[in-house]
Amino acid sequence: MNSKEIRQKYLGFFEKRGHAILPSTSLVPENDPSVLFNTAGMQPLVPHLLGEKHPLGKRLTSIQKCVRTIDLESVGDNSHATFFEMMGNWSLGDYFKKESINWSFELLTSKEGFGLDANRLYVTCFEGDENAPKDEESAGIWKEIFDKNGVKGNRIFFMSAEDNWWSAGDNSPCGADTEIFYDLTNSHKEGLTHEEFIKANSAQELVEIWNNVFMEYEKKDGKIIGKLANKNVDTGAGFERFAMVLNGKDNFYDTDLFDEIFSKIEEQKTELSVNSALSEKEALRVKRIIADHIRTSVMLISDGVTPSNTDQGYILRRLLRRAVRFADNLGLKKGSLFWIADAVVSTYADIYENVAKQRETIKVTIDTEEQKFRNTLSHGLKEFDRIVKKMEGDTISGKDAFVLFSTYGFPIEMTIEMAGEIEKKIDREDFDEEMKKHQDLSRSGAGQKFKGGMGDTSDISIKYHTATHLLHQALREVLGTHVSQKGSNITPDRLRFDFAHTAKMTDEEKQRVEDIVNKKIEESLPVNVVELPFAEAEKTGALHFFGEKYGDKVTLYYIGDTIDEAFSKEFCGGPHVKNTSELGHFKIQKEEAVAQGVRRIKAVLS
Ligand code: ALA
Repeated sequence: MNSKEIRQKYLGFFEKRGHAILPSTSLVPENDPSVLFNTAGMQPLVPHLLGEKHPLGKRLTSIQKCVRTIDLESVGDNSHATFFEMMGNWSLGDYFKKESINWSFELLTSKEGFGLDANRLYVTCFEGDENAPKDEESAGIWKEIFDKNGVKGNRIFFMSAEDNWWSAGDNSPCGADTEIFYDLTNSHKEGLTHEEFIKANSAQELVEIWNNVFMEYEKKDGKIIGKLANKNVDTGAGFERFAMVLNGKDNFYDTDLFDEIFSKIEEQKTELSVNSALSEKEALRVKRIIADHIRTSVMLISDGVTPSNTDQGYILRRLLRRAVRFADNLGLKKGSLFWIADAVVSTYADIYENVAKQRETIKVTIDTEEQKFRNTLSHGLKEFDRIVKKMEGDTISGKDAFVLFSTYGFPIEMTIEMAGEIEKKIDREDFDEEMKKHQDLSRSGAGQKFKGGMGDTSDISIKYHTATHLLHQALREVLGTHVSQKGSNITPDRLRFDFAHTAKMTDEEKQRVEDIVNKKIEESLPVNVVELPFAEAEKTGALHFFGEKYGDKVTLYYIGDTIDEAFSKEFCGGPHVKNTSELGHFKIQKEEAVAQGVRRIKAVLS
């Protein structure tokens, strides 16, 4: 069964049982700056699991894009990836354990469903603790199902909260769960003892394919504080794992989801790959890592993330730079990552419109980052060797690791990994100290975010970039000069601008800002650029990040005929349009808080 059929079957099954199908939300949570990425299908639904009514009803289903980087070291084995999709179904105070468990079993084993052999299923239930009782009810439901279907042997196991209690972190709705496992080996049909189950599981003979959480409680700061208004169901079934199981594979890289990606990697091999020092097993792992990292990068970029040194952008940068290094290990052609990305785009183009639409932006972003890293990579590797040679003991100092980071662009995690390969360590604490010192110096957060915000150079993005400058100045005129940029992110669909301001903007203020920007567009102002010595540039009163380290000379963009009369002046690397008349009409779509004292505007040009 190919992956497309699996999608349709899953959603169709629950749609038939009264569930509304939700599209996947962006990987970057819209209104939750506390997490970088959605890591589970339930994340966009948290407010509704906490009791807020959902406009589409009480029964929902989706296939949600997720990114988890916590298992980065396991990527390349049979069943871990940084990007995955999670199929799920939810009951918001509607059905509970009986329907949920019965439907899971039906979908997994029936002809209408996936037709899996029920004799290959194993389940776990919660054994109880001080927070909640033993889940006899779920176990009872499973027993009845297995008995009715003639499934023999011991296959229901009680486990502690460590395994069978689920929450999305320390502040989350939560509850006991029942997990469903599939026997990949088809050698345990008669059931297992508890010990045998644990052993088979850790040997990856069994794989967890579905988790049904019965969300009845709320956790705050890591403590369960009471019951929710509703008894909810939150289930999660790993899409890639389903593809693997339904295709009789023991790893999901062998499913159709990776066919095109691997062919492209093969195409990019050179003689170096043939003569590579890697063993076959290592080469396979490295190939999987490259496939995984490029797949995740494509999905992140399609959701508006661009490589940078902070937040989501940093994760993207880390993945891409790690991929560059592994591509070299595998002996791929230089500059091959964007070709691999092209194959990822093709794989997902039918599923995600924003991936299909941004094929070129995605490729340019990835290629630019590869080139940028290559500019410093070989020197960085030499520096790494030099550091290793001169060091005493087995620990690289934080200072040296910081030089690799700041001068050669080596993400610290990469340096740690490289050190690990030759059995050395990094003084991480010392590195963090260095980092902190540097950040205090340069307030790099805001500066880097801005640089990262301008990731692609397609025409529309350039327009948004210029519009961002107009918006920044308009906000200062309407709200006051305390307004300063805290972050910026541009996609081909919109600009996003974070700025310091404490109060929600009134409709009237928003209107005035829009009017100013549109007036400046109508005035057809030229956008000019000059290079000036830093002190000179500063004297013009141009906006810049105070404390940020700039070189001797800086580029300054100003919008207007002369620097003195310019409407907007900012230190900036560009690029920008030549004239504001190119921008079209400017409209604010959303204004909201993102953090204490930081507001966010999303705006479009049309
Ligand atoms: N939220 C549950 C999980 O991610 C279903 O496993």
